[in-house]
Amino acid sequence: RFGIGVLGLGISIPKNVLTNSDLEKMVDTSDEWIMKRTGISERRILDKDQPAFELGAEAAKMAIKDSGLTPEDIDLIIVATETPDYLTPSTSCIIHKLIGANKAAAFDLNAACSGFMYGLTVAKQFLENGFNGYKNILVIGCEGLSKIVDYSDRASCILFGDGAGAMVVGKVEEGYGILSSYMGADGSLGNNITMPCCSINESDLSVREHENKNVLWMNGSEVFKFAVRVMEQSTRWVLDDKNISLDDVSLIVPHQANIRIIEGAAKRLNVPNEKVYSNLNKYGNTSSASIPIALYEAIQDGLVKKGDNIVMVGFGGGLTWGSVLLKW
Ligand code: ACO
Repeated sequence: RFGIGVLGLGISIPKNVLTNSDLEKMVDTSDEWIMKRTGISERRILDKDQPAFELGAEAAKMAIKDSGLTPEDIDLIIVATETPDYLTPSTSCIIHKLIGANKAAAFDLNAACSGFMYGLTVAKQFLENGFNGYKNILVIGCEGLSKIVDYSDRASCILFGDGAGAMVVGKVEEGYGILSSYMGADGSLGNNITMPCCSINESDLSVREHENKNVLWMNGSEVFKFAVRVMEQSTRWVLDDKNISLDDVSLIVPHQANIRIIEGAAKRLNVPNEKVYSNLNKYGNTSSASIPIALYEAIQDGLVKKGDNIVMVGFGGGLTWGSVLLKW
């Protein structure tokens, strides 16, 4: 008997910093408004010609090294992304080549900002079921949101940044690792965040208050209300599943979208803000990469020790949501 848990972690963040004062020069906004409404002071942005998969490959190499394994030990690569550089080859196949994971299968999944929760849940199933003898799965959240953000739309361009986080998942001691996980979706709310792609149906896009079809559009206030609701619900779901109380949770690591969403959910859960990790002031919303980057930094900050119960919880486009309860 065994658990399925974290063997290694890695992150990669671009070097270019886009500050609130930079944005003040691009759109009608202010550092004060952005800080007060979102908690974000800066984000990291890829070079114009730099693909997001480079970040994913860097994070992957770091996670494999951290796990003490080699790329050839990886059986499957799952990349969660809503900003693939190519529709084909998938980002996972590009990273497969770049890191030399010659024995691995590879696929992408898209559950927007919930993608890493979905990816971990899928990885856990493969490993528990013993599919084809798989032992080690690399899950990566990899995003180049600056490629699809409209830098003339002040309501959305202030929110997003680029980044990648990677995790090697495999067998750990029984009773440790992923204790429970949960995924949800409501496609009927999908029109609240849209990024058109290959086939554009004009009537489907009628709710987009935006003429440019090549950029991300979002109904911020609807997403805000949804996010607070599902963050509370998803956190409670995995805890109830294992009969663990919120008092026995050391840290909640949420998707980093907006400090007011995080604090709103903390209030509904009746937990102090200190119990909910946040680093979004530095990176903004990096979609599927935000939770692994936050977990990595929480560990660096000394906030995670062996035996701690940690809840990771995400929400985003689709609309989707998901959570993972982890015993470290
Ligand atoms: N600077 C100054 N004023 C602004 C800015 C800005 N950057 N952006 C909007 N405003 C204005 C609006 O135009 C509006 O003005 P009005 O009252 O004259 O019409 C006013 O500020 C209030 O706008 P709201 O949209 O009500 O502001 P709100 O407090 O809701 O904040 C925000 C907007 C930050 C977008 C918030 O709704 C939010 O964070 N939503 C969630 C977004 C999110 O987390 N998405 C995650 C999923 S994304 C994915 O999966 C890719």
